[in-house]
Amino acid sequence: MNIVMGGTGHVGSAVAEALLDHGEAVAIITRDADYAPALSDRGAEIIEADVTDGGSLRAAFQRGTRAFLLNPPADPSKDTDAVERATAAAIVKALDGSGLEKVVAESTYGAQPGERIGDLSVLWEFEEALRAQRIPAAINRAAYYMSNWDELVQPAADSGVLPTMLPADLMIPMVAQSDLGRAAAERMLSSIDDVGVRYVEGPARYSPADVAKAFAVALGRPVHVDVTPRESWPKAFRALGFSPEATDAYSRMTAVSVDGGFDAPEHPVRGTTTLQEYIATLVAGQA
Ligand SMILES: NC(=O)c1ccc[n+]([C@@H]2O[C@H](COP(=O)([O-])OP(=O)(O)OC[C@H]3O[C@@H](n4cnc5c(N)ncnc54)[C@H](OP(=O)(O)O)[C@@H]3O)[C@@H](O)[C@H]2O)c1
Repeated sequence: MNIVMGGTGHVGSAVAEALLDHGEAVAIITRDADYAPALSDRGAEIIEADVTDGGSLRAAFQRGTRAFLLNPPADPSKDTDAVERATAAAIVKALDGSGLEKVVAESTYGAQPGERIGDLSVLWEFEEALRAQRIPAAINRAAYYMSNWDELVQPAADSGVLPTMLPADLMIPMVAQSDLGRAAAERMLSSIDDVGVRYVEGPARYSPADVAKAFAVALGRPVHVDVTPRESWPKAFRALGFSPEATDAYSRMTAVSVDGGFDAPEHPVRGTTTLQEYIATLVAGQA
């Protein structure tokens, strides 16, 4: 049995779908079984467990032979780095005594040691903890999620404006959740010695200007990028309800990512979903 964390979210649901497409037995973890009717209809088992309750998570892992691990994003009104460090540690602790033979974990492009740089360091530490424990661990570092643009359909449709903190012409590795799901499912099914880091992104790199163009085509109206200057990032995060700690971490993570060119590797695993296909599906209400 394959256990999938985050099975009601973007990536975990795509992992579960890809495994079900292979005819595999799947159980997804959620805090509330009512969140997952679609996967339940497809034959996935639903296990209620919570990362903050280590016993429930270990019991969920004990029902499988392999597991997909996803550190849940923290509520941005909290100290996100502190909360996500605690949940990552809880996931690793729950592996002890789980009996799993292999795990596949979701990490990020740009994962690196550091302080207050958000997921870049939190997921780096998660990777390090996984490398230090006994169960073989495959790590997929994901590019910038195309789903990060999901919330901008309405502003783009209403006002033709695509607000972003990223430079309009910066080429960024981006990836659709369906491609991340297939890439993770492949490693859930591969041999136990298929471990270590792989990078996963879409078929090409895209800029925010490309995103605006894709929205313009899909919406049938002009859309232009409105770049928030760096000095205004903290104010913009605060306006979205981020805590002072999350504002600091997200601002610093964005700066490191922009300045470092999003850590684009030469030979990533490439999915097939283009940005244009993703945005067209999103606008049609099906992403
Ligand atoms: N955004 C990016 O560009 C990017 C890039 C690379 C990596 N990442 C990483 O990807 C992850 C986010 O993936 P996503 O977008 O697929 O997440 P998502 O759509 O926000 O889904 C979050 C999932 O976590 C589960 N969850 C939340 N709190 C939980 C808890 N206390 N116990 C158990 N499960 C819990 C939710 O399940 P229920 O609500 O059903 O319980 C849900 O299935 C993060 O680790 C992030 O750092 C993001």
